Amino acid sequence: MPVIVARCLSVPGAEIGFAHGGPRAPMIDLHCHILPGVDDGALDIRDSAAMARQAAADGIEAICATPHIRHDHDVRIDEVESRVESVNRHLRGEGIPVVVLPGGEVAETAVEDLSEDELQRVALGRGRWILLEPAPGPLGDSLLRRVEHLAERGHRTVIAHPERHLSADMYERIAALIEAGALVQGTADFFLRERTAAGMLALAAAGLIHLLSSDAHSSHGGRPVKMAAAFERLAEIDSLRPHLEWMRKTAPRAIVDGDELDRPFGPVPRTG
Ligand SMILES: [Fe+2]
Repeated sequence: MPVIVARCLSVPGAEIGFAHGGPRAPMIDLHCHILPGVDDGALDIRDSAAMARQAAADGIEAICATPHIRHDHDVRIDEVESRVESVNRHLRGEGIPVVVLPGGEVAETAVEDLSEDELQRVALGRGRWILLEPAPGPLGDSLLRRVEHLAERGHRTVIAHPERHLSADMYERIAALIEAGALVQGTADFFLRERTAAGMLALAAAGLIHLLSSDAHSSHGGRPVKMAAAFERLAEIDSLRPHLEWMRKTAPRAIVDGDELDRPFGPVPRTG
């Protein structure tokens, strides 16, 4: 039975066991604002627990806590790990079978100011992958430079929710980020909403989405901590069907382990 243990997570029993394979294998949510009272995410520990219950019911067994590392949020990076431990203690006490891992959603505008130690503390699962939030507006040249600079510093990048950064050249810009070594995370709930589903499926069919995450902020409203239904939508795309296991399990697991990862598909050249 393969088992991964999140690096540097000092919570006793904080282990993720992947006992089941196949399309129903447990999932890891790489982007979720489950830490209570630190940013615009969970209001309190009861909200965090309710989010974890949602996740467990959906087949999610591990969640990276990704508070905003951004100038308009006063998140103390050196407190993230102890806050994660505190949530895990509560979840264990409540009998909720979900493990929270350290992480952060690092803003494009803030990442250059982080020390090596700070970068390591907000890496997903405390591995080496950084969840990078593009600056508001269309994806720009500076985002590509940030990805390249993170690579020079020994970090791989997951680009958060590119679908929020629309522009005429969005496909080409995402493809360039992928070419520079980034993987791309789409928001699971947007695959299910009437107004956004077609656009998300088009991005995925173009080979520009590698990972799904909830980016949930609360149990009281907004996006739920759910991903299973969005993966079922991805299964409608013929070209992605052979890669669903990689997207759902292999890649997230490697990311929280801090492992190197080759993508099994590339951007589809646009025609016309
Ligand atoms: Fe987020």
